[in-house]
Amino acid sequence: LLQKVQIDHHLEELGTYLLNLPAFIKPVVLVDTHTREKCLPVFNSAVPASKGFSIIEIPAGEFNKSPEQLLAILTELVNLGADKHTLLINLGGGVVSDIGAFAATIYKRGIRFIHIPTSLLAQIDASIGGKNGIDFLGYKNLLGTITFPEQVFISKKFLETLPGPEMKSGVAEAFKHGLIADKELWDHIKDAPLDHIDHLLERSVSIKLSIVSEDPYEKNTRKILNAGHTIGHAIEAARMQVNDPVSHGEAVAAGLIMECYISQEMNLLPKDEFIEIEQTILRFFGKIKIDNLGREALLKLMLQDKKNQDQKISFSLIRSIGRASIDDYCSEELIFQALDYYSK
Ligand SMILES: NC(=O)c1ccc[n+]([C@@H]2O[C@H](COP(=O)([O-])OP(=O)(O)OC[C@H]3O[C@@H](n4cnc5c(N)ncnc54)[C@H](O)[C@@H]3O)[C@@H](O)[C@H]2O)c1
Repeated sequence: LLQKVQIDHHLEELGTYLLNLPAFIKPVVLVDTHTREKCLPVFNSAVPASKGFSIIEIPAGEFNKSPEQLLAILTELVNLGADKHTLLINLGGGVVSDIGAFAATIYKRGIRFIHIPTSLLAQIDASIGGKNGIDFLGYKNLLGTITFPEQVFISKKFLETLPGPEMKSGVAEAFKHGLIADKELWDHIKDAPLDHIDHLLERSVSIKLSIVSEDPYEKNTRKILNAGHTIGHAIEAARMQVNDPVSHGEAVAAGLIMECYISQEMNLLPKDEFIEIEQTILRFFGKIKIDNLGREALLKLMLQDKKNQDQKISFSLIRSIGRASIDDYCSEELIFQALDYYSK
């Protein structure tokens, strides 16, 4: 395994890990506005030694997963005199872990970093698997690397302050994990995901870890984790462009419905399972607005997807609940049909 991920609700393992670091290692904590206020105190009280750590703060929100904020973090690292003995601790949601890991990867050609994910989405998905990066020129995650954090410490204590819509956002990735790899997880959480948070955390983390370990650099099988994201990312980016952002999870949830529609139309996914997936996701997330985004604009965004080959949009489709495939292609017409189906 390239990274160690621990469920550590009381942050005891984290305390031990930090205590055992050589004295010359200087930790710096990266937070955003919200996690500074809500999560840093939790971290400080669980790990008293952390009170003397330097802090770098970025403004909260996807809009700040940007080149400007990346440069701001790097500038702060220089100002703090950070060197190869600096440990960057990313305390926050997926935005903080993505941009923080990217900064740590390129600063002085790489310094050590760990994640303490504080949103449900970051705990079950973004903090695991080494992908990092920033959005660029309106495209999601266009710049970045795959570089693994040394450790990930997951505590549900942080979820106590996470706003409701952000909790929901995380559920989309848990649904996806069930759909691509674990029917038992799907069945367990589909009716009331947030009533089963321990099970959801445990299973989801372990599914993501096992898929990533098999193919860490996404040569093939890891691509199944992109289910729902080909269309989902396009929607997320397009809604940001019209200054009306949706959460990553809401966009992925909508993407899952449309991509399952495609799968069903191609006779890859049984109709009754499509209906179950669609109804479950709609019950939990409702519908989001996409008809003002423009089909061509969405298609253009999908054409930047990193899975594509030969300018053809590549999907990872659900074949049945608990099983997905990779490198699936369909006509542009069918993509438009899926967008229309969802918008109607
Ligand atoms: N690297 C990967 O493999 C991967 C996987 C999935 C998603 N992502 C990325 O993750 C990002 C989405 O992550 P996210 O949903 O965590 O977004 P986020 O980091 O923006 O967090 C959502 C909001 O919740 C706040 N917040 C986080 N933890 C909190 C807490 N404990 N209490 C109160 N407020 C808290 C944040 O400040 C922010 O306002 C996207 O950029 C997406 O592309 C990356």
